[in-house]
Amino acid sequence: MRDTLRRIVHRGYELSGLIGPMHRRVERRLALAAGKSIDDGRPMPPAELRVLVSGTADEAWFSERGKADAARFRNAAESAGLDLSSALDVWDLGCGCGRIARWLAPDVIAAGGSFLGSDINRALVAWCQTKLPGRFLVNRLKPPTTIASGSVDLAYAYSVVTHLREPQTRSWLAEIARVLRPGGVALVSFHDEDYAAAWAPPGVAGALQTRDYAVLNDALEGSNYMSAWTSRRHFSQLAGPHFDVLAIEPSGREAPTQALAVLRARPGQAP
Ligand SMILES: C[S@@+](CC[C@H](N)C(=O)[O-])C[C@H]1O[C@@H](n2cnc3c(N)ncnc32)[C@H](O)[C@@H]1O
Repeated sequence: MRDTLRRIVHRGYELSGLIGPMHRRVERRLALAAGKSIDDGRPMPPAELRVLVSGTADEAWFSERGKADAARFRNAAESAGLDLSSALDVWDLGCGCGRIARWLAPDVIAAGGSFLGSDINRALVAWCQTKLPGRFLVNRLKPPTTIASGSVDLAYAYSVVTHLREPQTRSWLAEIARVLRPGGVALVSFHDEDYAAAWAPPGVAGALQTRDYAVLNDALEGSNYMSAWTSRRHFSQLAGPHFDVLAIEPSGREAPTQALAVLRARPGQAP
């Protein structure tokens, strides 16, 4: 009897178009149940916010991955000639609830630099504003931001253009270039062909053979429910109008993580 009722309710959700949101609710409840508390000496955002940015409430994952990604950015910046222990102005685009900022912002500020984080989600920004050092602001889905032209040495965006359609990614690359000082560095992660082969739903890797940019659920742009993939070659083309592409670190095939573009703003980008 209960199964019959469940099937009827399920069919009702399908017919009403609510099946997607209902599934997401269930996923969220499962995610919120995961993980135990840890103390890594930094403010830890609440489970609701961690799930929003990373799909899991697991504190150890949030802490360790955030620390590892911060180290990856530090090294990538260094490879491009920027030393994060000198006074730099840094912008974290799509900062979420500070998964990476909680590791980088204190050091940037201690070195005499400034740290700015921005995101489209008010709740995430509000948490960062009260718990992390630096300045945090809400930006819109589409640029421009209110950030002054030529005011930033290092801009980074982890797992942000992975949730944007191609025109939006182009616009954000232009915006990052505007905000950077000449010679400034941008670090932008994206889902490349290796990542698609490892993690994408069936069809995406194949689609990338014939298309430059593949997207799922584009009506949900800016949220984690929309995903975008592009090849390393095409990402270089997208960045090309504004940046010298210093390196593209591939996702890798063994334990794929997001690919990372290391970009240097060409002089003359900021008006
Ligand atoms: C997968 S989460 C990653 C968050 C954070 N960068 C991290 O690594 O934990 C994607 C984040 O990008 C934000 N976002 C999506 N589109 C954005 C946009 N156009 N501008 C700023 N933030 C955006 C989302 O609100 C979300 O916080």
